[in-house]
Amino acid sequence: MKETDIDWGNLTFSYMPTDYNVRCTFKDGKWGEIQVSDSELIPMHIAASCLHYGQESFEGLKAFRGKDGKIRVFRMEENAKRFIRSAEGIKMEPMPVELFCEMVRKVVKLNERFVPPYGTGASLYIRPLEIGITPRVGVKPASEYMVVMLVTPVGPYFKEGFKPTKVCLSREYDRVAPKGTGSIKVGGNYAASLVAGEKAHELGYSVMLYLDPKEKKYLDECGAANFFAVKGNKYITPKSESILPSITNKSLVQLAEDLGMEVERRPIELAELETFDEASACGTAAVCSPISEIDDLDTGKKYIFSTNNEAGPMTTKLYNKLRGVQNGDEEDIHGWVEVID
Ligand code: PLP
Ligand code: COI
Repeated sequence: MKETDIDWGNLTFSYMPTDYNVRCTFKDGKWGEIQVSDSELIPMHIAASCLHYGQESFEGLKAFRGKDGKIRVFRMEENAKRFIRSAEGIKMEPMPVELFCEMVRKVVKLNERFVPPYGTGASLYIRPLEIGITPRVGVKPASEYMVVMLVTPVGPYFKEGFKPTKVCLSREYDRVAPKGTGSIKVGGNYAASLVAGEKAHELGYSVMLYLDPKEKKYLDECGAANFFAVKGNKYITPKSESILPSITNKSLVQLAEDLGMEVERRPIELAELETFDEASACGTAAVCSPISEIDDLDTGKKYIFSTNNEAGPMTTKLYNKLRGVQNGDEEDIHGWVEVID
């Protein structure tokens, strides 16, 4: 596909083929050289442990084109560290941070022409994944692993972009177990969320908001994103061992503090939703996706945050700050971006 064929301003969050992906295999106790491939296929043994026992983890990060034409990757060391935690959580071989970062730099550089132009709102989504590839029928970790990184240009995660969407919640579904794999990024968590996610979509909601899987009393994960709320000058976000520690949320916490907001990371009881001024989902794909309303499907109760189809003022400020740093419009005072050249 030629660069000029892409309608950058109207991209959605979906897969589009690019020129290359990069791969690296762990074999005989060591990581090999980074391989470049132009194939979208992975040759795999029919008994590979990722296929049978779900030995798979992944990451998501983005590269942005600035006004100056430079490409900036956002906080890749944080993704590298989480990739290690995910691997360890399902007994896979952790990839060293520096090797992960080398692969990111390489796959971005090789697909430079797919980094969307400044001002389109689009970005290059980078998807690293790790799979166990040893043939196994016994339930046991693989001894060989493959890390693949693919990239694809993307637009907003929700078609509404930065316009608020409705979210629902229900006690009928758990994404993960209380002491399960919720705090790591493994494919199984997402498979387990599909029934609830599709239910939410069928009913006209953007995502399912999960309550904590133990007591069903506290707010937990918001689809494939974290949740945060604004109450006066406070940024409030759930503390839970069953949610993924979001790098976007961590960044928004810092930006909120920079803006002079008070930050609370603590268990949030469902009933507290009533008291919040603004609510939002946040993540690499979601960025900040403001929430207009949360409907409790079990009780019929509705929590309303926006009636004018606009994001609240603090959410807007935080979103603009974050996008500003990512695009290179705001000074990167925390050292979050790496320029790829
Ligand atoms: N929670 C879940 C379940 C996710 O899949 C994601 C996306 O990566 C997030 C939260 C947000 O994390 P991050 O901001 O690091 O992308
Ligand atoms: C991300 O935000 O990077 C995610 O992984 C969320 C989703 C696309 C799985």
